[in-house]
Amino acid sequence: MRSSILLFYSFVACITSLTKQDCGDDPEDCDVKSLHINSSQDPQDEKEQRGIDQGLLDKLRFFSQFAAASYWPGNTNSTGDLLKCSGDSCPKVPAGNCPDVEKGEYTTISEWKDFAGFDDHGFIAISRSAKLIVLSFRGSGSDRNWAEDFKIDKVHVPEFCKSCHVHHGFWESWRGVSEPVVKLLIRLHYENPNHRVVVVGHSLGGAEAVLAAGDIRNQGPWWTANVELYSYGSPRVGNIETVRFLSQQSTKSYRVTAMQDPIPRMPPAVLGYKHTSPEYWIHSSPDHPGPWDVNILWGYSNPKGVNQFSAADGFHMNSHRHYFGYIPGCDPDPPTDPSVTDIRAKL
Ligand SMILES: *[C@@H]1O[C@H](CO)[C@@H](O)[C@H](O)[C@H]1NC(C)=O
Ligand SMILES: *[C@@H]1O[C@H](CO)[C@@H](O)[C@H](O)[C@H]1NC(C)=O
Repeated sequence: MRSSILLFYSFVACITSLTKQDCGDDPEDCDVKSLHINSSQDPQDEKEQRGIDQGLLDKLRFFSQFAAASYWPGNTNSTGDLLKCSGDSCPKVPAGNCPDVEKGEYTTISEWKDFAGFDDHGFIAISRSAKLIVLSFRGSGSDRNWAEDFKIDKVHVPEFCKSCHVHHGFWESWRGVSEPVVKLLIRLHYENPNHRVVVVGHSLGGAEAVLAAGDIRNQGPWWTANVELYSYGSPRVGNIETVRFLSQQSTKSYRVTAMQDPIPRMPPAVLGYKHTSPEYWIHSSPDHPGPWDVNILWGYSNPKGVNQFSAADGFHMNSHRHYFGYIPGCDPDPPTDPSVTDIRAKL
């Protein structure tokens, strides 16, 4: 939320320090050859589907509530209690910000706050009745998070592919917690082999979720290939090779965008950043979308989703905060949009 907005204003200043990534010396490295793609769902094909089915809509809504839950400090500072986002937890959203999560009685097995020193917050929660294990990353909440977002140079991630280059700050944030998180997920899966494992996040947390799911599927034992991903308002995470790798890795990835959200348009494409495919774009009624309010857009920069907007259309941070409700509603610090002066001071 308050995070990547900076990129928007600062990319010109940073552009000279960045080098364009291409496919490398070996053109074949541009392709992830080992993965089978269903040709009618080729992620790079810029197709569009209007509307989604109710079942998928329900899933997108349900998992957004775990992203919402990560904004309440009580859900990231005290392992072992139930996730909640209503009553005193969330005075600004009286009806609560995660009613279905509260009903499912999710106990946190791990909560962290500033674990890696990046003001990173998150939790792993389990519901034995729902047979679900959920890893959730919080969006940006501090100056330190903002500073992380500034590292928009890319780092080489050969674990993904030979020419994969990933947003430095997002990768560092995920790698800061990845070791204990992966260990714990493996233990939880071992103890509960019939539980689904799902990774979620909004905003900066969405970018971390995208990279976490990619890394967990990539490095983990066989079952991790089934890990599901739901990201909301995530910025772009890497170059074309990276997003191709991530998009071809699994069909259980749901990258949700809404209205004119500017954050998914960052870091800018001119810096060599692309998006994973497909995108699930909520084009109307973002607080209570129906099946016909969501389109699916395939492609790494499909112009029919949130990409159709540009800086000239304005900077609609409100769009960034409305995903099945006011998603950072339980954040006790009201989101503030930085002024350009603030941003310059932090550069
Ligand atoms: C490919 O995807 C289409 C559309 O989702 C589906 O109907 C078809 O069964 C899939 N084919 C294979 C071989 O998986
Ligand atoms: C966790 O955060 C909540 C909400 O800010 C606060 O009421 C509670 O005292 C905190 N608990 C601990 C152990 O710090």
